[in-house]
Amino acid sequence: MNILGIETSCDETAAAVLKNGSEVLSSVVSSSIKFHRKYGGIVPEIASRMQLESITQVVDSALKEAGIKLKDADLICVTSRPGLAGSLLVGICFAKSVSFALGVPLLGVDHVCAHIYGSFLNKKSIPLPFIALVVSGGHTNLFSVEDFDEIKLLGFTQDDACGEAFDKVAKILGLGYPGGPAIEKIAVKGNPRKIKFRCSGTQSPLNFSFSGIKTAVLYYLKENFAARCPMPDARADIAASFQETVVDTLIKKSLLACRMKKVKTLVVGGGVAANNRLREKFFQAAKENKIEVHFPSKYFSIDNAAMVAGFGYRLFRKGYRSGLDLNLQ
Ligand code: KG4
Ligand code: ZN
Repeated sequence: MNILGIETSCDETAAAVLKNGSEVLSSVVSSSIKFHRKYGGIVPEIASRMQLESITQVVDSALKEAGIKLKDADLICVTSRPGLAGSLLVGICFAKSVSFALGVPLLGVDHVCAHIYGSFLNKKSIPLPFIALVVSGGHTNLFSVEDFDEIKLLGFTQDDACGEAFDKVAKILGLGYPGGPAIEKIAVKGNPRKIKFRCSGTQSPLNFSFSGIKTAVLYYLKENFAARCPMPDARADIAASFQETVVDTLIKKSLLACRMKKVKTLVVGGGVAANNRLREKFFQAAKENKIEVHFPSKYFSIDNAAMVAGFGYRLFRKGYRSGLDLNLQ
């Protein structure tokens, strides 16, 4: 079965072809990020206009790379939530048109849940149930996954998302956008124990809060460098200390969720899951706690359409379908 996935929830226009839910035949991602950089974040109007211009070409490339024709698609899965309204609409309208023209079933998919599926792409299946941590630019969620249509939210961020905190701290440090990869790069040269940052407490132990640590970085700069950009060595220490604290918090809460739900398998996904330090520390902690942890390849950690196709396929097999009245949700 050939599944065509389409993803346009943020700055990217992505299409992928999947065979039977895990074999990725192609995955194409075109990002408009360079047009947003000078604004220090995503400008929704620019994103949707670029998506409108590129979607046909991106889908064509994905089909070509997979060696199939559009008529060979057996299912169309498209991100229908959450995301930028204009951007989501480009993908949804495109997917609905193809579904209508070819009479192929259509399914709207949740982007955050689709991130969980990154670990299933080009890999052996992971036994259910498991705990999933999704750490992206817009979400920081802990889920209990009993099945692909039985995903319960256990914890979420009360303020900034984890990736958002990386982006904001990078901005404070005068690094580029997106901030996650920039922080990771300079943190390699820094001392992660140099500065004692901490994440704010939360009422529910499985919730997250990252806005306090971002402000703490800002105050640290004000107090020690008169809010000016510090020298590279000091910057590396700040980045490493920030990253370490965030990673430790994510690990502590993920392990707590595993203990609370008596589950021994953990699946991590979302853009921040591409971070090497995070992966290294999760693997170490999982080993110490006799938990099996799964990560997508780095490519499938960040936004892509293969995860949308795969997650949609699992729901399709359970009987889920969307009509042509599919809209952003
Ligand atoms: O999942 P994603 O590609 O898009 C959303 O759904 O939001 O995640 C993007 C986020 C951005 O905030 C970016 O800074 C962060 O993931 N990110 C990273 C790394 N690569 C991307 N954060 C930390 N370390 C990285 N290597
Ligand atoms: Zn994402």
